[in-house]
Amino acid sequence: MTERDEQQRLDSWAVLGIRTDIPHPARVYDYMLGGKDNFAADREMAEVGLRLMPEMRDSSRANRDFLVRAVRFLRDAGIRQYLDIGTGLPTSPNTHEVAQEGHPDARVVYVDNDPVVFLRAEALMAGSDKTAVVRADLRDVDEVLAEAASLLDFTKPVGLMFVAALHCVVDSDDPAGIAARYLAALAPGSYLVLSHSTDEFAPERTHAASRAAAERGAIWIPRGKDAIARMFNGRELVEPGLVLVSHWRPEGGVPDANADRAWTYGGVARA
Ligand SMILES: C[S@@+](CC[C@H](N)C(=O)[O-])C[C@H]1O[C@@H](n2cnc3c(N)ncnc32)[C@H](O)[C@@H]1O
Repeated sequence: MTERDEQQRLDSWAVLGIRTDIPHPARVYDYMLGGKDNFAADREMAEVGLRLMPEMRDSSRANRDFLVRAVRFLRDAGIRQYLDIGTGLPTSPNTHEVAQEGHPDARVVYVDNDPVVFLRAEALMAGSDKTAVVRADLRDVDEVLAEAASLLDFTKPVGLMFVAALHCVVDSDDPAGIAARYLAALAPGSYLVLSHSTDEFAPERTHAASRAAAERGAIWIPRGKDAIARMFNGRELVEPGLVLVSHWRPEGGVPDANADRAWTYGGVARA
């Protein structure tokens, strides 16, 4: 892309009131996954992060693969409604594509606070009465639940998903408490899918990357396994429990060669 093309692109987002000068987790993550929906500030943030922690790319890819395997698990367990919070930019296969394989009636509500995610996801879902996109802050629990209820029936089981989302919430906003409020709205038979970056394997480098994000106005707070486990609020984890995402029911039963470089814990619990 030429400089002029890039400027035109920035101008068109600016007209919509979208800040492209501050990195946003959705777009930094998109860059890590090789996507094109990112801006110079996102790429700079990603490159700084990758210099400090080359493992971030492994984590991003492995996390996305975990999402797909977890949704397949829920689909095969009979879940037909999903609330995917902290959706990210559309990356195939998306939650609805996996959930609707063989079950075209499965419903998915995506929630994200990034306007670019919202616009891209809305364009992708246009015309579908089985998927909806809500632009909201996940901390506004009542608002998100009210909007989601226009498509989801909360008297029936729901797959609640916080995949690589709660590490964008600071301690003072109580991520485990936020998860608890969503869990309280779910019917028996529901599931919780949750993954979260960890600082356990290289604390100094991880904290340096987290500080670099904060200096640029972005939030990324990797946590220890115990803190992440508390976000399940005591719900019963299915096998193999809370593990590094590549170790969660890998394809063919064998984690890939980079499994231990993907520093993100993930698990699925009966909600
Ligand atoms: C690292 S991405 C994960 C995307 C996707 N869940 C996945 O795992 O592939 C984190 C997502 O959470 C969203 N997010 C961060 N803070 C949020 C908030 N307070 N409310 C809603 N969404 C938020 C970001 O915009 C981003 O799309």
